[in-house]
Parts: sequence; structure tokens; C-alpha cells
Amino acid sequence: MADDKPRQVILVSTRGNAELLGKTYSKDNVLTVTWHMPMSFDPKLYGISIGKNRFSRMLIDDSRVFALNFMAYGTQDKVLYCGRNSGAAVDKFEGAGLTKEECSHIDCCRIKEASAQMECEVIDRFEVGDHIVYVGKVIKEHTNDDRKRLLYVGGDKFTSTL
Ligand SMILES: Cc1cc2nc3c(=O)[nH]c(=O)nc-3n(C[C@H](O)[C@H](O)[C@H](O)COP(=O)(O)O)c2cc1C
Repeated sequence: MADDKPRQVILVSTRGNAELLGKTYSKDNVLTVTWHMPMSFDPKLYGISIGKNRFSRMLIDDSRVFALNFMAYGTQDKVLYCGRNSGAAVDKFEGAGLTKEECSHIDCCRIKEASAQMECEVIDRFEVGDHIVYVGKVIKEHTNDDRKRLLYVGGDKFTSTL
């Protein structure tokens, strides 16, 4: 996901069931995402692009909901952990030291440490090469603080908004 332009980095939290190698998982999970964008004002829609092989992709296809968690500068370690480990193998909330909160309008968790969160219901999905773009209808927004947002540069490098 690295290129030479900083991109805002978010954590996408999910809750759902997944079948993997004959095992059924029922899990809350979180993955790091830099390929995301606002898509419409009215209705308010937000898109995320998720690799077809991601464990989180299976959970989103099962539950048809996800939460966007906008992270502040200073959370780099947590963001890298969630982007370099799979929820099929670890509990990322525990591993990254993230606090889980219940969403108020969808059956999913959100991340307490985030500066802002959006609760989304999937209204569309389409394949784009090796990724799937999910179009989420924003059901509820939470703004917690106005800390500088975290931007990802590449490798282990981050920067922030002004
Ligand atoms: C900085 C960063 C940005 C990333 N952006 C994306 C992204 O936009 N879409 C995606 O599918 N994966 C992205 N990834 C990779 C996933 O976060 C990573 O594969 C993660 O381990 C998947 O977790 P899961 O198997 O629990 O779903 C990114 C990783 C990092 C470190």
C-alpha cells in the first residue's frame, strides 16, 4: 500500500463470521486501510477498498456492516500492528492495545482511541482488480476530538495533518 504521497490512515472494525480452512470464526476484528474515500453527500456514502484475501473481507461480506475509525498521530504502532497481522491468527484489539466500544446503530464494534468514527451499512460492493470496493451508507458519526490525523507515507514512516 506504500507510495510516495501521504494518505490518511484509518482502522476499519468489523464483526462477523468467516469460514477459513474448515474452521468457523466468529469475531470482532480490525484492519488498517489507506485506500478509502468519501463518495456522496446525500445520502452520505463512504468507500473502502479491501483485498479479496483479507480475513476482514469475509467478516464484512457476512455482516454487511463496518465502522471507520479515524486515527490520530501517535497511534502508529497500533496501526502498523493491525496492518501486519491477520485476525484469523490473533486478537488485534488485545495485541494492539485498542479499546473496543459498541457501535450505537449497527451490530459492530468501534475503537475508543479514534478521533472520529463512522458506523456504516454496506449498500453496494464491486470487484476492482484484486480488491473489493464496499460502499458504506454512514448511519452514525461520532467526533471525539480534533487531534492531528495520522497519515501514512510508506514502510514504517508516518506524518500528520498540520
Ligand atoms: C499502512 C497500511 C495501509 C493498508 N491499507 C490497506 C487497504 O487500503 N486495503 C487493504 O485491503 N489492506 C490494506 N492494508 C493491509 C491490511 O491492513 C493487512 O493485510 C491486514 O493484516 C489484514 O488484516 P485481516 O487479515 O485481519 O483482515 C494496509 C496495511 C498497512 C500497514
